Amino acid sequence: MASNPAFDEGLAAPRHVAIIMDGNGRWAKKRRLPRAMGHKRGVEATRQIVRAAGDLGLEAMSLYAFSSENWKRPEDEVSDLMGLLRGYIRSDLDEFVEKGVKLKILGNYKAFAPDIVDLLEDALEKTAGGNGPTLAVALNYGAQAELAQAAAAAAAKGPVTQEAIEAELYSAGLPPLDLIIRTSGEHRLSNFMLWQAAYAELWFTDTLWPDFTPEEFTAALEEFAGRERRFGGR
Ligand code: FPP
Repeated sequence: MASNPAFDEGLAAPRHVAIIMDGNGRWAKKRRLPRAMGHKRGVEATRQIVRAAGDLGLEAMSLYAFSSENWKRPEDEVSDLMGLLRGYIRSDLDEFVEKGVKLKILGNYKAFAPDIVDLLEDALEKTAGGNGPTLAVALNYGAQAELAQAAAAAAAKGPVTQEAIEAELYSAGLPPLDLIIRTSGEHRLSNFMLWQAAYAELWFTDTLWPDFTPEEFTAALEEFAGRERRFGGR
């Protein structure tokens, strides 16, 4: 697996990083461009960061691409986002397969249009055997709904323990979440991976998502490696 020289000096490299990709709209507004352009450039940033995650040797990266609240946006914006999702999967699937990237979806993606569901299921199938990093994309995702469903599924099977809930989360099987990054100067989790965030470090930047670069991503990971994590101990 590739590794970052910054982590060779005994610093703890993160295994699983989650990103709240925020600020596409403001990026476009600042340039007097339509919001759709912001999302389009946001996908380009996503592509670069996904590549960087593989190069940096992460085991998993989770991306908040479409929340269950995003349906409330105007119809044409939702449709733009769906179009970009289709385009991203179509254009990058071969690269995922080639690099052994395993795709995972967090959220109820079956509520999407049938052609997107087919596209996603095809991508899940084609990448399932990959031996590289996992790319978990949150689609129609909300953490509170995830937790309620996981608790109900656990209760249907037996005692509702922490482990039983964890096994029913969309993220089951992923390494523990080490670091959450949010761009665009907002300091909230916005219903993203609330359970998984329990011991994660948080890293915020004012950079708007379309301007977020692999260099800044690397800097965030290096800062993480320098932080001491106590997990409630001393
Ligand atoms: C936040 O910008 C971004 C989103 C709505 C989700 C992220 C979407 C992308 C990066 C593009 C689609 C991704 C894939 C993988 C197809 P915002 O519109 O909330 O920005 P604002 O807060 O500045 O208005």
